[in-house]
Amino acid sequence: MQQNKHTVFDSDVIDLHKIHNDAGNITVVENGFNAPFDVKRIYYLYDVPGGEERGGHAHYQLEQLIIAASGSFDVILDDGINKKKVSLNRPNMALHIVPGLWREIVNFSSGSICLVLASHKYDENDYIRTYDEFIEYKK
Ligand code: TYD
Repeated sequence: MQQNKHTVFDSDVIDLHKIHNDAGNITVVENGFNAPFDVKRIYYLYDVPGGEERGGHAHYQLEQLIIAASGSFDVILDDGINKKKVSLNRPNMALHIVPGLWREIVNFSSGSICLVLASHKYDENDYIRTYDEFIEYKK
């Protein structure tokens, strides 16, 4: 499918599985096993002040897995027609964001950590930074 034709319904929450142990749990993300793409980059958002919002952009090519490694937040996906709110609050659940969707991340709980696994290295040219430009791209 062409990237710009993706809709919010192409993005799903994946259960990464939890290896339970009374001494603490482990969740694994492994290329070729449970990652839906080969992971090239990892970054994490933390110390987000109350009421702050992140995201507010789309990507042409980049795929991401977004995980609430600690705490909780909401991801609002937008394909220019439909919007979908996904609440993340468990470290074994990951939102797979396909390319070509506008996203905002809101309602960060205090001390939360937003872990992001990405399919490509950082490239500013892959960002769509304004909503007008995004809507034009989706036509
Ligand atoms: P951005 O992706 O816009 O943040 P968010 O969507 O979380 O609000 O990135 C914020 C800044 O960090 C921007 O100046 C680019 C820089 N940055 C990197 O240098 N490398 C990276 O891998 C990322 C994700 C961001």
